[in-house]
Formats: sequence, structure tokens, C-alpha cells
Amino acid sequence: MNILIANDHGAVELKTAIVAALAAKGHRVENLGVDTGDSVDYPDMAKLAAERYLAGGFDFGILCCGSGIGISIAANKVDGIRCAQVFDLYTAEMCKRHNDANFIAFGGRVEYAVPVVDMIERYMATEFEGGRHRRRVDKLCR
Ligand code: RB5
Repeated sequence: MNILIANDHGAVELKTAIVAALAAKGHRVENLGVDTGDSVDYPDMAKLAAERYLAGGFDFGILCCGSGIGISIAANKVDGIRCAQVFDLYTAEMCKRHNDANFIAFGGRVEYAVPVVDMIERYMATEFEGGRHRRRVDKLCR
């Protein structure tokens, strides 16, 4: 898949691990995030990634900040972006199945019970169900 990733300084290690794992599985990952601990503002990283995604060419995007919260809030301010904060395999699956999320978000300072890459793989393996969920997702769009 063609995947976009961006992060702030709170998730450099997590971003690096995700990129390495996805690349090793043959995915193309474009890294728009920062690679040092120098402080940046997560709304800027979210906006950059959202605009790049909307320009086309990507299957989905991944956003990471310290908690996963700020960067997902920021991304969801952009019309056309549906960013889900994913916590486990269930939310990884349902955000695609029912919400057709085009971004998923994780926190570099969060202790997850499941490896983040497993959650990403579950998301990638899931299809949007459409039907009544299409109607609901359409109501999210301005
Ligand atoms: C940065 O210190 C931190 O606030 C940010 O990465 C994120 O957790 C915000 O939601």
C-alpha cells in the first residue's frame, strides 16, 4: 500500500519503528514527520499530512504525537479527513469497517497492550462495509 505518515517530537521512535516495519512488508511509506526530538507543533504536522493526502495518491495516513490525541483532533478539522485514534485490534478494525477512517492515530508515549503494527495491519486488512455506514459517513462530510 501507499501510506503517508507524520509525527511530532513526541513520537519519533514510534514513527521510525512503524516505517521500518511497513517498509519491510513491502509497503511504500512517505515520511512527512520529524526525525529529531526538537519541538514542533502537532497541528502543523497534521495539516501537512492532511493536505498531502487530499492531493491524492495514498491509501491512508498514519499520525503520531505523544498521546495520539492532539494530532487526531487537528487532522479531523480538515474537511475530508476522518482520523481515528486506535487503541486495540477492535478499534483498528471498526474505524475502517464502519467509519471508513482515512487516517489512524497513535501515541508515542502510550503503552499499548497490542503492538501498533498489528493494529495497523488489522486496519489494512479490513474493508469499509458501506450500506448504512456510507449514509452515516456521508453525514460527517461538509
Ligand atoms: C507534545 O509535548 C504533546 O503535547 C503532543 O505530542 C501530543 O501528545 C498532544 O496531543
